[in-house]
Amino acid sequence: MSIKVEHLTKEFDNRKVLDNISFNVEEGEVLSIVGFSGSGKSTILKILCGLLKPDSGIIDISDGDIAMVFQYSALFDSLNVFDNISFALQERKEFKGKYTKQDLQEIVKKSLNTVGLSGIEEKFPHELSGGMQKRVSLARAIVTKPKYILYDEPTAGLDPVASTVIEDYILRLRDETKATSIVVTHQMSTITRCSDRVIMLYDGHIVFRGTPQELLKQDNPYTRQFVSASIEGPMKIAADSF
Ligand SMILES: Nc1ncnc2c1ncn2[C@@H]1O[C@H](COP(=O)(O)OP(=O)(O)O)[C@@H](O)[C@H]1O
Ligand SMILES: [Mg+2]
Repeated sequence: MSIKVEHLTKEFDNRKVLDNISFNVEEGEVLSIVGFSGSGKSTILKILCGLLKPDSGIIDISDGDIAMVFQYSALFDSLNVFDNISFALQERKEFKGKYTKQDLQEIVKKSLNTVGLSGIEEKFPHELSGGMQKRVSLARAIVTKPKYILYDEPTAGLDPVASTVIEDYILRLRDETKATSIVVTHQMSTITRCSDRVIMLYDGHIVFRGTPQELLKQDNPYTRQFVSASIEGPMKIAADSF
């Protein structure tokens, strides 16, 4: 149930966004991927879940049961919470016809409870706050009991308290599902609270790998610049990249 990525390369418009990247995530581990906007973080997640094809490289995910929590909750606006969450169970062929309406109601209720919500099955996404939308998208991600969960900036745009709530759920999901997880994030609190290990991307390469504690030591120019959010440092930020 580990993830192995070897020599992954992906180019867009003749620019190598990922240039021979290798890393792995051990079973049950949470890996954070950090780096400035445009450094290729989302591209890695999209390749892992099959939305994008790499130019070259080896992706080894032992069982393709992957859930993605997208940056912008990516709920269906025209579906209520119940339908949003049960969608995967009603549409995916391995689940089709497996559950009665009553089963689905139980499953949806339980998955909402896991993220601290209840009684909102009939609500539509626009009736929910940003933090609640993110929690519904977490609930949707876990409903199929995935072995892998990929989170794309799960706390982006949330205030610190709402971020803490989401971080707690990421930890809880790890403990309850034992899923192997990757969290793409900019947020220091998410990195330090949720991850076992961190990799930092810049210019197509991994410029740091280590634990959150090692990242916080800031003992290389990249970690120093990232942690202090400084404009000065080895990482140049293109004006058109954010
Ligand atoms: N489908 C695409 N076509 C062309 N360029 C893309 C595409 N997807 C991403 N890019 C470019 O690749 C770079 C990395 O994007 P992305 O992985 O979304 O970065 P991040 O998630 O780290 O902010 C950016 O410069 C982006 O513009
Ligand atoms: Mg992104």
